[in-house]
Amino acid sequence: MTLEETDDQDNIRLQKVLARLGFGSRRTCENMISAGRVKVNGAIAELGRRVDLTKDAVEVDNIAVSIEPDLVYYLVNKPAGTLVSAHDPEGRPLLIDILPASPRVFSVGRLDYATEGLIIFTNDGKLAHALTHPSSGVEKEYLAQTYHDPSNLALRQLREGVEIEPGVITLPAKVGHLSPCLVKITICEGRNRQVRRMFEEAGYPVKRLVRTRIGPITDTALSPGHWRFLSVEEVRLLSYASSNSPKRAKL
Ligand code: URA
Repeated sequence: MTLEETDDQDNIRLQKVLARLGFGSRRTCENMISAGRVKVNGAIAELGRRVDLTKDAVEVDNIAVSIEPDLVYYLVNKPAGTLVSAHDPEGRPLLIDILPASPRVFSVGRLDYATEGLIIFTNDGKLAHALTHPSSGVEKEYLAQTYHDPSNLALRQLREGVEIEPGVITLPAKVGHLSPCLVKITICEGRNRQVRRMFEEAGYPVKRLVRTRIGPITDTALSPGHWRFLSVEEVRLLSYASSNSPKRAKL
């Protein structure tokens, strides 16, 4: 934070607050303020307005913005060959190293070293717990490329449930055969290496696996190795999804 942005610890320019919360770039947020879409304590905010995060009530389009200045939510597109872990004795690349060092965040769930795609990092333990709890049932969507084109029987097994370890049968999944050797699979559990193990059990090991959606969160414009803040609306939707998902993919 620079002197231009803050007079003291408590008063921060509104556009910076909104940008931090994921409403867009600083310029976009300035435009929102100029357009009269932002209110502070019930009054339309002027550009240049500073807010005290502990006292002022901020609304965008008449919807209250919950300001938790200490909480951050990053959406990351994990490239293959990176580790979702805080340390690695083998010195492999850590995904967390592409994120700001402060505040310290942790991943919401995991992706394997070879798996690519969307993963959330946050310091919001409550939301992370809600999303990863076995009862949350939040959908996770993957694109799985296989070495051989899966048979209809294999696709049915994936859809209906596969015994991935003795006594553990996966819940029904949504499975779409997009093209030869390319399957979209949506699961609502988060067992270790679940998708790879499901395909292995069905007889069609996965060559490449990419997570393309976490509940309501998707982003086809985010390149591998890049991250962005989740918007307030996305955090709200995630929180809603974690408490309202049926415990199976919608078939
Ligand atoms: N399923 C897998 O097999 N690997 C992942 O990384 C995520 C889901």
